[in-house]
Amino acid sequence: MNQDQLKQAVAQAAVDHILPRLDSKSIVGVGTGSTANFFIDALAKHKMDFDGAVASSEATAARLKGHGIPVYDLNSTAELEFYVDGADESDERLHLIKGGGAALTREKIVAAVAKTFICIADASKLVPVLGNFPLPVEVIPMARSHVARELVKLGGDPVYREGVLTDNGNVILDVHNLSITDPVKLEADINAIVGVVTNGLFAARPADLLLLGTAEGVKTLKR
Ligand code: 5RP
Repeated sequence: MNQDQLKQAVAQAAVDHILPRLDSKSIVGVGTGSTANFFIDALAKHKMDFDGAVASSEATAARLKGHGIPVYDLNSTAELEFYVDGADESDERLHLIKGGGAALTREKIVAAVAKTFICIADASKLVPVLGNFPLPVEVIPMARSHVARELVKLGGDPVYREGVLTDNGNVILDVHNLSITDPVKLEADINAIVGVVTNGLFAARPADLLLLGTAEGVKTLKR
């Protein structure tokens, strides 16, 4: 199976997991990226079995609407049972790096609200230690140089993602060469820098379930 087929397999596995637990009032939190897109396409076949979705990005909202799935504002959503999203890296404890698609802040907000965060990823995303993938940090534009200097003090090499503005109107610094041995602490330390909106470590609130697409089939890892 190629990488896209593995992504499709985990997207379908996520639909199979949540479908029996949805009813006509359910609202599903939906992530961003190519794996999340496969999930949206698979979920759309069952759009009569739930109410609608909350989107973690404008791109996801557009794809959901394109399928005729109602998209709700998170502020008008009382309860979110599931959030389903991809990741750039996961360790065995389901700490994640996310934000390759620049949607990390809204992803983190929807993940925080959801009771269960299901991460869907192909096997290449599971790593022993996080940090090979450069850590995305969303930054208020006027704070970019200040934040970059502070990230260097934390041992990283920040690179400005040129030409990218997030859905919130901010910029992204991708931090290379971080050794992320304590993801919970690093997530908090980076978020404490003035001017940082949030960073792509999902460690304080990791995934609850990782559906991993492998050549031998979809494996389930639990926290
Ligand atoms: C977007 C994300 C994505 O979940 C992450 O980049 C993985 O993307 P893909 O499913 O395309 O590999 O965090 O901000």
